[in-house]
Amino acid sequence: MAMQQVALVTGSSSGIGAAIASQLVRDGYRVFGGSRRAQSPAGVEALALDVCSDESVRACVDAVLERTGRLDVLVNNAGQLIAGAIEELTLDQARAQFETNFFGVARAVAAVLPQMREQRSGKIVTLSSLAGLVPVPFWGYYNASKFAVEGYCETLRAELKPFGIAVAMVEPGAIATSLFATAQATKLDAYTPWRDRALKTMQGFEAKAPPPDVVARAVAKIVAKAHPPLRTLVTGEAHAFTTMRRLLSDGLFESAVRMGFALDRG
Ligand SMILES: NC(=O)c1ccc[n+]([C@@H]2O[C@H](COP(=O)([O-])OP(=O)(O)OC[C@H]3O[C@@H](n4cnc5c(N)ncnc54)[C@H](OP(=O)(O)O)[C@@H]3O)[C@@H](O)[C@H]2O)c1
Repeated sequence: MAMQQVALVTGSSSGIGAAIASQLVRDGYRVFGGSRRAQSPAGVEALALDVCSDESVRACVDAVLERTGRLDVLVNNAGQLIAGAIEELTLDQARAQFETNFFGVARAVAAVLPQMREQRSGKIVTLSSLAGLVPVPFWGYYNASKFAVEGYCETLRAELKPFGIAVAMVEPGAIATSLFATAQATKLDAYTPWRDRALKTMQGFEAKAPPPDVVARAVAKIVAKAHPPLRTLVTGEAHAFTTMRRLLSDGLFESAVRMGFALDRG
């Protein structure tokens, strides 16, 4: 009988991470879910995890390995959003954004690699975002953290291929979760008309956003493949914006974004 595959999903206490963890349980994986709240959906073994702490990440991965002796899938999902004009955000907020969205990924990867290299197998799937390919106005440091994830994962993929470890990214457009609610803009009056219009436009996308299950199904397909693609776009929006970005000149694309987000009105 084939051995039950083991998966660890970071940020499994809500939203996309909870949906992915549940989907992998349905698909027959033994699933561990890590989050600061240490909550996970039914069927998922919940562990305490703060991806901003080296110690916490190591302890979480050790706990999985102690209980199972193997790790087949890591889903880097934990993330947060701090919105606002770049000038409105402090460098501490910028660092917090990178600490979770970028170094959180790097920490988890560093912790699982010795085991996966020894197994000579494994899949590392990371939640990037449409915002990691096409920046969203007034989400500057979030975009930057996801652009960093893009460069990192593409490099990691090349380096890990010889060990039989596959690296892939998921690029969702807006998904209905609490991510938007956690956005916090500190206010500089000078930016108010543009910031408020841009963030209102994003709320419009959020209002029409599909539930997290669409991402969970995409991740399930990725981990089921022997050779998953580097990027999987999720939602029509992700397809539309990346296609526009590819086909239009920088100037035309910029004009379209300024129009879409009403950035040229005073
Ligand atoms: N929603 C979207 O529109 C969208 C689109 C594209 C990409 N994404 C990406 O999808 C991922 C999941 O976001 P979501 O929309 O599901 O947001 P969410 O509902 O706010 O969930 C975020 C999850 O991350 C966990 N988390 C946050 N900081 C953490 C930390 N330091 N250590 C461990 N876990 C932490 C949270 O759990 P605790 O608070 O319990 O730690 C929570 O489970 C993120 O990487 C996000 O950038 C989202």
